[in-house]
Amino acid sequence: SKTPTVFTPLKLRSLTLQNRFAVSPMCMYSADDGHLTDFHLVHLGAMAMRGVALTIFEATSVTPNGRISPEDSGLWTDSQIAPLKRIVDFIHSQGQKAGIQLAHAGRKASTVAPWHTQNRGQGETATAAQGGWPDNVWAPSAIKFSPKFPQPKEMTVSDIEGLVDSFAKAASRAVSAGFDTIEIHAAHGYLFTEFLSPITNKRTDQYGGSFENRTRLLVDVIKATRAVIPETMPLLVRISATEWMEWTGEESWDLAQSIRLAKLLPDLGVDLLDVSSAGNNAEQRMQITPTVQIDLAGEIRDAVRAAGKTLLIGAVGFVNTAEIARRIVQTGDEGLVDVDGEHGQKTKADLVLVARQFLKEPEFVLRAAHQLGVEVKWPLQYGRAAWAKGEK
Ligand code: FNR
Repeated sequence: SKTPTVFTPLKLRSLTLQNRFAVSPMCMYSADDGHLTDFHLVHLGAMAMRGVALTIFEATSVTPNGRISPEDSGLWTDSQIAPLKRIVDFIHSQGQKAGIQLAHAGRKASTVAPWHTQNRGQGETATAAQGGWPDNVWAPSAIKFSPKFPQPKEMTVSDIEGLVDSFAKAASRAVSAGFDTIEIHAAHGYLFTEFLSPITNKRTDQYGGSFENRTRLLVDVIKATRAVIPETMPLLVRISATEWMEWTGEESWDLAQSIRLAKLLPDLGVDLLDVSSAGNNAEQRMQITPTVQIDLAGEIRDAVRAAGKTLLIGAVGFVNTAEIARRIVQTGDEGLVDVDGEHGQKTKADLVLVARQFLKEPEFVLRAAHQLGVEVKWPLQYGRAAWAKGEK
């Protein structure tokens, strides 16, 4: 029988991924002044050893004040390259590929790691005594996320221009570290989302107001990044397809604007749009179903293709079985069904990003391969433990 699409290669510019699985970026709140540590080597290495084609490193801030917590990864200075390169080299030694998510946390910066908060969630301000920078938090407009978060400052035009330059410099450093691809983090209520949304962006200059103005910062950063990375290197962007604020009746960042943005991305040199949602407002009303984000990805994919544009789509959210992953990317007419079997028979995405399942099961891809009856690369050293025939 034919290999399921999920175990077929995906080509992005000169990068070939051996299958359609990626480790979705996950902050581990374990860096040392922005430098990754042995924890990250073992954590990321464990997944890369076990069949996942692309490992995307956690949100990595391009400036010190763009970290979510004092323990976040950074790439604002050259000394941060070597610890990243060590892990990238290891991933390459396993025949797999590495990506890095470059980020700025905007008004959600300077918070403590989740395990230091009372409800084990995000969002308690990290004070200066805790290593935070609550007096130097940036946002498009001086509006807090919620009472426990720091009070942000409205960015000046020179702050914005400096940030674009910081992204370009961090992207150059990522190239030096050997990464195969870069993802710009424009999702989850961090700085870019804050600029995209008319709820959080109340600016009256060229960075606020119209769709063109609200997308300007992201577009400028995409252009600046594309300008410093090799032509052969693919560029990824993650967005929140909706901020789930339609219920307010106010204008918000929604699917229609995400589709409008998606259609512009190929001409800016973006190869893949990674579709997430939510995170920009404490009052969001997210529709939580296992397929909601997969369906958003599918709608964007259809709209972009209908417009004749070439943009690959990544889907993420609640993927925890081989069968769900298989259905999301399956092309052709073999066994094509929607994840929940209700929304018609359509390919939803080209790449499946998985976060929490990899924390529980770093060998998720190995098991999926076994269940779907295909072979993936895994360590030579582990050969004697090959899955027994018939074992699931
Ligand atoms: C995340 N997520 C996340 N997203 C992102 O774009 N950058 C990041 O650094 C992080 N950090 C992070 C840490 C941890 C511990 C978790 C669990 C999640 C979100 C993640 O990439 C993914 O989009 C969601 O978790 C949904 O996918 P799963 O977990 O349902 O597969």
